[in-house]
Amino acid sequence: MNAKRKSADEALAQKEAEHLTLEEAAEELARLAGEIEKHDKLYYQKDAPRISDAEYDALRRRNDAIEARYPELVREDSPSHRVGAQPADGFGKVVHRVPMLSLSNAFDDDDVRDFALRIRRFLNLKEDDILPITAEPKIDGLSAALRYEKGEFVLGATRGDGREGENVTANLKTIGDIPATLKGKDIPDVVEVRGEVYMSHEDFAALNERQREAGKPVFANPRNAAAGSLRQLDAKITASRPLRFFAYTWGEMSEMPAETQSGVMEAFRKWGFTVNPLFGRCDSVEALIDFYHDIEERRATLGYDIDGVVYKVDRLDWQNRLGFVSRSPRWALAHKFPAEQAMTVLEKIEIQVGRTGALTPVARLTPVTVGGVVVSNATLHNADEIERLGVRPGDTVVVQRAGDVIPQIVRVVEDRPRGKKKFVFPDTCPECGSHAVRETNPKTGKLDAVARCTGGLVCPAQAVERLRHFVSRNAFDIEGLGEKQIAAFYEDELIRRPDDIFTLEARDAKSLKKLKDREGWGSTSARKLFDAIDTRREVELDRFIFALGIRHVGETNARLLARSYGTLDHFEEQMRAAADRESDAWSELLSIDGVGEVLAESIVDFFAEAHNREVVEGLRKAGVKAVPLPEQEKSSPIAGKTVVFTGSLERMTRSEAKARAEQMGAKVAGSVSAKTDLIVAGPGAGSKLAKAAELGIEVIDEDAWMEMAGA
Ligand code: IVH
Repeated sequence: MNAKRKSADEALAQKEAEHLTLEEAAEELARLAGEIEKHDKLYYQKDAPRISDAEYDALRRRNDAIEARYPELVREDSPSHRVGAQPADGFGKVVHRVPMLSLSNAFDDDDVRDFALRIRRFLNLKEDDILPITAEPKIDGLSAALRYEKGEFVLGATRGDGREGENVTANLKTIGDIPATLKGKDIPDVVEVRGEVYMSHEDFAALNERQREAGKPVFANPRNAAAGSLRQLDAKITASRPLRFFAYTWGEMSEMPAETQSGVMEAFRKWGFTVNPLFGRCDSVEALIDFYHDIEERRATLGYDIDGVVYKVDRLDWQNRLGFVSRSPRWALAHKFPAEQAMTVLEKIEIQVGRTGALTPVARLTPVTVGGVVVSNATLHNADEIERLGVRPGDTVVVQRAGDVIPQIVRVVEDRPRGKKKFVFPDTCPECGSHAVRETNPKTGKLDAVARCTGGLVCPAQAVERLRHFVSRNAFDIEGLGEKQIAAFYEDELIRRPDDIFTLEARDAKSLKKLKDREGWGSTSARKLFDAIDTRREVELDRFIFALGIRHVGETNARLLARSYGTLDHFEEQMRAAADRESDAWSELLSIDGVGEVLAESIVDFFAEAHNREVVEGLRKAGVKAVPLPEQEKSSPIAGKTVVFTGSLERMTRSEAKARAEQMGAKVAGSVSAKTDLIVAGPGAGSKLAKAAELGIEVIDEDAWMEMAGA
């Protein structure tokens, strides 16, 4: 679209509905139909809304206003004909026998008074007739319909567009709050319970933490997390997500269990559903309004997101008489809370470093009150999120708070002065100055969303975690030095780096503030710790390597490296040489069976950092010795040779065979090359055999190998 055209459209979008000509109105309705459909899709199908609920409501209100003025222009595809988006592909479709409608909204107390007055007039009630109305929180999740036949859960669906939803029965079955069989007697043949699937704040935070740790995208808010979790094609994933369910209404029922809304909720409870504990009934409008303000005050402490209070006429016979207007019942109303959003200025972006080295950008904001709470920080998750928002320091932004979840930046306010400079994500760690890298996920080949500090051993943000790993059972295994002691010694600067552990006693001897005098310590326990440290001054090389906490180097890889390189000095020297990707050292590292590019890079990067080498040097100086693994056999027929295993082995596992070959002094490689001396081929060996023939390499079968191995 050219710039002139764009600004003409913008001008039209600003013009009030009453002032539009017929032609302009038609054009606006076409635009709104497209816009609303786009946002419906983003919200309902992608679980990734791009505008706030308030902005969305404004689009719909404008559409309604224009349609009210020009009813002849109402389009076939008008958003007022539908409630949400068409169901996404991938799930079976379910047509709701009773459509799933939405609620009309109230934004202030007077709207609620009008609601009650309208109802009184409609029902022709006398002034002293009591109009009981129920009130309950409006849960911010996604609605679902659960069909039970003869008490058994048979079909569960999302709302979809209100008429047709998605069949998510298998997924709903994994939710603990949803009973598979209804409890009690006198259960109608057909029961369809409707309610909200949601995620608590606590579960949401934990889920996002797991996502972050795994380098996966985080969810913007609990509602998106709930929607994304429910709409998984694999129900096992849904089962691993902590979803909950509140029952609040019904669809098709072969028989009603009560004559009032509150009576039906009571029946739902008895049948085994969870009804919101705050559900109540009021006998006057003023009581409803008090209820609303009470819930509003308690909103932040409920532990899950709500966005208002829902009122419903209690008597079902009155509900029936009142009926529906367009998309919503006349007998119900959603009283919305004011948007927990506000505008403020993003002053700067700072980087926080987590326990595992993940770099998280944090937005420092000019303090602003959002929903009654002062907000001055917001999370930006990672570099991609900054890019997606297009946000720069100095920008005016819309911030949003969802309950007690960390505030978020929703979007940049484009028509305010913009920040001048783009934020450049640092390539070093702000805590320790080491390089920060985004790794390539070895499985997907994609760049991780999270940048990580490579300064593990020296980075203060990671130090305690790294030290804890260093002394752990499969590493240095130092008795009496657990997480608690490590944290306390770190705090008091007694142990900052692994080598400090081994100089602790010598420093203690000279110190005035002795370990034995510390709280919780005595001369016996201090002596015991020093002795425990002393006995670990010599450890096997594989433990030593594992203890360093090099990313991707677990116990198995540490053993592989220890075997391949023999001594610590040789290992370190080779890893330093391998920094040159043209070197023999680099190709040798890659030729080790089990060492891929990601692992190789992470080891070489580790030794490229001066501070990591200082730690290794420090350990040497403190008298720590890495003992080579037991000598490999020198006289075996494969000593010094390179062996490749291919095809399936039936008498030994692949790792057993590998370990045996290594013990016999061989190097085990994963692929055939000119360096290969011997191939052990089991059934199903493929292309490797052809290559072997081409290169004239000796091939033996498993039996011959077993004989050679003396097994
Ligand atoms: S009653 C006929 N009660 O709000 C209307 N809805 O805007 C039946 N919602 O689609 C809905 N909490 O997803 C009702 N306590 C509550 C609710 C609630 C959340 C949602 C529901 C519905 C939307 C209507």
